[in-house]
Amino acid sequence: MPSFICGWGGSGEPAASYIGLVLRYLTAGESHGRALVVVVEGLPAGLTVRSEGLAEELARRRLGYGRGPRMRFEADEVSILSGVRHGRTIGSPVAIEIGNTEWPKWEEEMSPSPGQPKRRLTAPRPGHADLAGMQKYGFDDARDVLERASARETAARVAAGYLAKELIACLGMVVVSHVVALGGEVADAGLRPRPEDLDLVDASPVRCMDSDAEARMIAAVKAAAKEGDSLGGVVEVLGYGVPVGLGSHVHWDRRLDALIAQGLMSIQAVKGVEIGDAFEISGARGSQAHDAIVWVPPVPTSSGSRDVTGGYHRTTDRAGGIEGGISTGSLLVARASMKPLATLNRPVLGTVDVATKEPTVSFKERTDVTAVPAMGVVAETMVALVLANEATRKFGGDSLAEMVRNQDAFLASLGETPSSVATGSGGAGASADVTNRTS
Ligand SMILES: Cc1cc2nc3c(=O)[nH]c(=O)nc-3n(C[C@H](O)[C@H](O)[C@H](O)COP(=O)(O)O)c2cc1C
Repeated sequence: MPSFICGWGGSGEPAASYIGLVLRYLTAGESHGRALVVVVEGLPAGLTVRSEGLAEELARRRLGYGRGPRMRFEADEVSILSGVRHGRTIGSPVAIEIGNTEWPKWEEEMSPSPGQPKRRLTAPRPGHADLAGMQKYGFDDARDVLERASARETAARVAAGYLAKELIACLGMVVVSHVVALGGEVADAGLRPRPEDLDLVDASPVRCMDSDAEARMIAAVKAAAKEGDSLGGVVEVLGYGVPVGLGSHVHWDRRLDALIAQGLMSIQAVKGVEIGDAFEISGARGSQAHDAIVWVPPVPTSSGSRDVTGGYHRTTDRAGGIEGGISTGSLLVARASMKPLATLNRPVLGTVDVATKEPTVSFKERTDVTAVPAMGVVAETMVALVLANEATRKFGGDSLAEMVRNQDAFLASLGETPSSVATGSGGAGASADVTNRTS
């Protein structure tokens, strides 16, 4: 996720190098440091923020079969430091701190004051950032790398993601994830959770909708745990209610699929991302690989609200709701594949002691058997952050009410667009008025 933001130029036009985020966020903190912090900037005023909601979202990240006891019992100590007053955002940066409940145990080892660590970690763990990080930054202690490379950092992202989810919910979007494969056990591809099924997914120890597959996955985790080994898997993220028009075809770094891929790929240990049925359709013929477009005439509703069943639709959802880097209004589908965790409870992976250059096995930092269910919650977070960013870019306003108005106006203006009327080639209409005003 790029963090190089230039903002708007003085003329009101996008600055020439305008790329990246309009909803910015920056995390800081080490795994065993005093606290993690995240600053989120660009949220509209008037967004409801509940500390309990934030705590619940962080708790979801800690759960999942195959995780260690620390994850199950440790509560995140969350404080909202700024940007929220009486439960609502006020347009200023929102800063959140997640304290480390084990800080007293780590205070000496992680102290920012001058001094020396008690013990240097000199046997870098294969499959982690340890060795490449030590070489890159000139460290002789792997802890200088692993403390920040650790997936503990995703707790800060999940906190930002809670805010993003609240924002997109106000625009009618919900992001749901579920585990579709774990340790080689694959769930029925036809079972996809809807937003109302999220509690059901979270109640599953492996966050899987398919109960047969769930049992096989749990057995696989038990078997791997017995041998001190680890497992990977695949998570599917579904975006419901994503309106047409997020992302753009005009630049490589504005394509929605590219932004989602980067967001998901940035999660520790995620090594592959798929949008829609990308890998399956690569072997199909073009005639079987795309989604046909149909027009359903809108039905006037008694309340005067927009009829969501009318308009342009796709008959299938192979593209995952994105064409040409733009959301189509169909279900958004993305998958993230996680490698088996690199730290093993029975370490066997060979490495070299960088102090002596002698062969050894890597040291063991606390580790899980699998973190695929938890990764799903982080994957939801990343997709929600991308959607919130793109929705802010398209519908952005200083207040939530303004953003909702902007989105409503855009959706209402779609009407039969594109049509001969809306493109201005066939007669007068709202779009012709806009052309007159701006010319
Ligand atoms: C939620 C979550 C929990 C993780 N827990 C562990 C763990 O317990 N043990 C481990 O070896 N790696 C764990 N990882 C993965 C490591 O952080 C990751 O493998 C490491 O940073 C190197 O991966 P990379 O090559 O993808 O950067 C976890 C990842 C996530 C997303």
